[in-house]
Amino acid sequence: MGASIDELQGAGPGDSPGLSLYWEDDAVMAVDQRALPETYELLRLEDIDALIHAVRALAIRGAPALGLAGALGVALSTRVHRHAHTDAVDEDAVRADAERLAAARPTAVNLAWGVRRALAQLPYGPRAVLAEAVRMVSEDVAVNSAAASRTAELVESLVPDRPLRLLTHCNTGRLATAAVGTALGGILELARRGRVREVLVDETRPLLQGSRLTAWELAEAGVPYRICVDSAAAAAMAQGMVDCVLVGADRIAANGDTANKIGTYGLAVAAARHGVPFVVVAPESTWDHDLADGGGIVVEERDAAEVTGIGGSVVAPAHARVFNPAFDVTPSELITAIVSERRVVRPSHVHHDQRAATLRARI
Ligand code: MRU
Repeated sequence: MGASIDELQGAGPGDSPGLSLYWEDDAVMAVDQRALPETYELLRLEDIDALIHAVRALAIRGAPALGLAGALGVALSTRVHRHAHTDAVDEDAVRADAERLAAARPTAVNLAWGVRRALAQLPYGPRAVLAEAVRMVSEDVAVNSAAASRTAELVESLVPDRPLRLLTHCNTGRLATAAVGTALGGILELARRGRVREVLVDETRPLLQGSRLTAWELAEAGVPYRICVDSAAAAAMAQGMVDCVLVGADRIAANGDTANKIGTYGLAVAAARHGVPFVVVAPESTWDHDLADGGGIVVEERDAAEVTGIGGSVVAPAHARVFNPAFDVTPSELITAIVSERRVVRPSHVHHDQRAATLRARI
């Protein structure tokens, strides 16, 4: 690998202003997503423990951003465990760090994918690891741009000839990726094409990624939006206020079953009931082809305090027991289409292909 570490530093905001995650001066830089919408702050993460803490605390969140954090984290660990004056690396120490990082959040497949991709370069030395991580940041921007165009084309074909009222959940924008975003990238592309009348933003309890982050991104882009509580979404569909639902994904099984932020499944049920197209937008790296269906997806359960407190106020009795899954799994038959940088998958076609494959295997 020819590039020097100094050359690779150039992947930072100097070259691409607005990246939410990048490498600069031997550290991982990331927008602190906990601080928004009040303040826009950058975190400088210089060791793996700081990065793991940022991932667990959701300072860095969103499946594609987690994939990049995984790769940049391996680069960080490689730098820390590089012997002074040589390029030799304590590979066992890096692999141990990588394992801890990959396990920091279990549901988004991208985290372990990013770690694996960077680790594959470890035998070629620290520059190769860093080059791969930096390349993945640029790739993510290109991948999201391609998926955004594809999404806009699909939605325009599903709902032609009228100003669109869209509904989205959680945050799938530039903050959840290196830049552009997935489902929100598609929504912003539709807005650029002059097609968006309004975006309804689910607030996304308990951590409010919708009202804190998605609303902030839509305001930044000048796109009209209204925030609603999650439980208002079905009523909005019943009143004909939604032309299409667009969401992201944390892991997609081979049959198209999709894990995403808790509440997504309920949205899909309501969308099916009201005949509203339900579109998932995610990069190819979010597909987990080793899982036949969503039954095998591990859903992260998070701390009770996320539910029993809001903004520092207590909203439940002391010692209340809590069910706080961070994600749910939407069966593929409720999904109209899954869009990536390469293709539009209609899950009913996945079923069809799988049935055909099963039949072929039996013959
Ligand atoms: O717990 P989070 O905030 O990391 O959950 C994020 C989501 O569920 C997103 O919808 C998903 O990761 C897609 S981000 C482009």
